[in-house]
Amino acid sequence: MPELSAKSSMLQASPIRKLAPHAGAAEANGTNVIYLNIGQPDMPTPPEMMAALHDLPLTRLAYAPSEGLPEAREAWSDFFSSWDIDFAPDQILVTSGASEALTFILAIVAGGGDEVLVFEPCYTNYLSFAAQADVRLVPITLRVDDGYHFGSIDRLRACITPKTRAILLCNPSNPTGTVYTADELEAVAQVARENDLFVICDEVYREFVFDGGQIRSFTRFKDLAQRIIIVDSVSKRFNACGVRIGCMATHNREILDVALRYCQARLSVPTAEQLMVVPILENGRACSENLCGEYERRRDAVFKGLAAIDGVSPNLSEGSFYTMTRLPIDSCVEVAVFLLRVFSVDGDAVCLAPGEGFYVTDGLGVDEVRIAFMYDADTLNRAMKILGAAVGAYSGRLATTTS
Ligand SMILES: Cc1ncc(COP(=O)(O)O)c(C=O)c1O
Repeated sequence: MPELSAKSSMLQASPIRKLAPHAGAAEANGTNVIYLNIGQPDMPTPPEMMAALHDLPLTRLAYAPSEGLPEAREAWSDFFSSWDIDFAPDQILVTSGASEALTFILAIVAGGGDEVLVFEPCYTNYLSFAAQADVRLVPITLRVDDGYHFGSIDRLRACITPKTRAILLCNPSNPTGTVYTADELEAVAQVARENDLFVICDEVYREFVFDGGQIRSFTRFKDLAQRIIIVDSVSKRFNACGVRIGCMATHNREILDVALRYCQARLSVPTAEQLMVVPILENGRACSENLCGEYERRRDAVFKGLAAIDGVSPNLSEGSFYTMTRLPIDSCVEVAVFLLRVFSVDGDAVCLAPGEGFYVTDGLGVDEVRIAFMYDADTLNRAMKILGAAVGAYSGRLATTTS
């Protein structure tokens, strides 16, 4: 057989889905699995979106324009305006989720082993997007003990090399729940100014900021308008991951022109789905504001539950709908498998996302897990109790086998 490309071997299996076979086996045995590993919202897709799907004014599903349907671009522009973010429709390209936007952007701003700075732990698919674009992600490692904040601008400056092309920032962060402070955002902006860099801002969780904290889009840095590329999506904020509609937006005409060529190469984004998101984008602010309150209640349940586990000092997630935490265990992959294969309470088991898959640096995150808040607070309470009992049982088992 001919060999596959070298690039193929660089794509990692998603750590979020890796435990799926064990979860499937547990379910086949009649166990109820509580999935804390995946950020797929459990709440209904807004009725106006479902109504738009039923009432689509179409007799033929033709290709949409590569840049997106005019009404979808208008709707994204209106949605941005509702958050005081200024992008005209022709500065927006509709993409197949934020995922497609990110693969295009990385390939446009870098390549050939160029470097892009990223805070780790990071959204795990950044690693695959970068591998596809032949981009080297240079991690700035954040620590749970610092609440996953980087603090000083020197952390960024220390990573700059002649090959650095961009900073990729996810704010609020998946997987840590970090909402970067005004000073941290200014530090990112300043390093971009000093070093002639682009800033790729993944703001798919923009409005999910807890405890009354301020929502700060990176577009606030008007002097950097030509360097900023925003990535957005309907997936999370409208409980609509399966719709596969996102966008990229920038004031940089050269980037838009090149990105349009990428868009043309894939022809178009599904016509029906683009029309389906128009009404909700036009009235999107209220919808995501309501969701944020619900995620905050869930965050509180997870935080309280984790704090009650011996040896766990949870980090208070500030936004998105995730938290990362360290467990008093050497290998969270093993405890995650134990939780699915061996340990259940009253027929319930828990599926976690082991932390190591969220790091660019090998060997980091082995004692961390990411938890997504995709159930109501009562179920999350129960899940945290199961997790606590499992950590105790797993440690006890280790003590027995090693003594
Ligand atoms: C930070 C982040 N960016 C991008 C994506 C991809 O979003 P989409 O469903 O729009 O492709 C996700 C999905 O989980 C994410 O968490």
